Amino acid sequence: MDDTYLSINGLSKRFGSLSVIEDFSLQIAQSEFVCVVGPTGCGKTTLLRCLMGLAKADAGTILLNGQPLSLKESCVGYISQEDTLMPWLNALDNAAFGIKIRGTPRSERRQIAGKALDKLGLSDIASRFPREMSASQQKQVTLARALCAEPEILLMDEPYSQIDSTSRRGLWEDLLRLKAQTGVTVLFITHNVEEAVYLADRIVVLSDKPIVIKQDIRVTLPFPRDIADSAFIELRERVTEEIKWW
Ligand SMILES: Nc1ncnc2c1ncn2[C@@H]1O[C@H](COP(=O)(O)OP(=O)(O)O)[C@@H](O)[C@H]1O
Ligand SMILES: [Mg+2]
Repeated sequence: MDDTYLSINGLSKRFGSLSVIEDFSLQIAQSEFVCVVGPTGCGKTTLLRCLMGLAKADAGTILLNGQPLSLKESCVGYISQEDTLMPWLNALDNAAFGIKIRGTPRSERRQIAGKALDKLGLSDIASRFPREMSASQQKQVTLARALCAEPEILLMDEPYSQIDSTSRRGLWEDLLRLKAQTGVTVLFITHNVEEAVYLADRIVVLSDKPIVIKQDIRVTLPFPRDIADSAFIELRERVTEEIKWW
């Protein structure tokens, strides 16, 4: 049975003479959590930007559930590498900001945002401004903002790379809980191999540009995963060996 949900086929993107993506294909099933790892500058962000239509692909098709992704933008939650909050809005209004463009009335927006914050255990910081939040709380609010649109798929570009390792563990747990509760499909870019092994159902290892899938690894370790477990360490080392960008 073909259970493809997100289907990327023959995608190509160049910047002048620099070929970043060339005839790239990747299929993702519904509710799959796919981590993409690869060297810095290989084209991971460009890939997501092509998916979002923020960069125009030179060739290829991107389908979500059989329809062009460009027609289904409202199904997609995108968290870019630089995503930040509006400093003049509190957590609730920052979360609600994501659906402002839809023309949803303010009171309804705030109600939806309140639920999104609640889902991530952030209700008690709803009235705080970004300067009053920790870095990881700020990241959680950007996720809540994406959740307001009830996305079927989340595209996340190295969302936790600036977060200290202790707080990051909490963010991982929250994301896994969200996934278990909602069944959302996730395409998650990271260069942190431990993060990929902790979160993913599948790890896609990319080569340097033009990106090629070097390895496509199904991760069958049961949840909750233990970073000190020997099978975990073995897989982490295997993926690290595959990447070797240093
Ligand atoms: N708008 C652009 N114009 C020219 N080159 C770009 C542009 N965006 C990205 N690149 C180049 O494409 C390559 C891939 O970049 P990027 O997708 O950001 O990599 P990654 O996210 O994997 O670190 C890099 O060499 C980068 O310099
Ligand atoms: Mg990037």
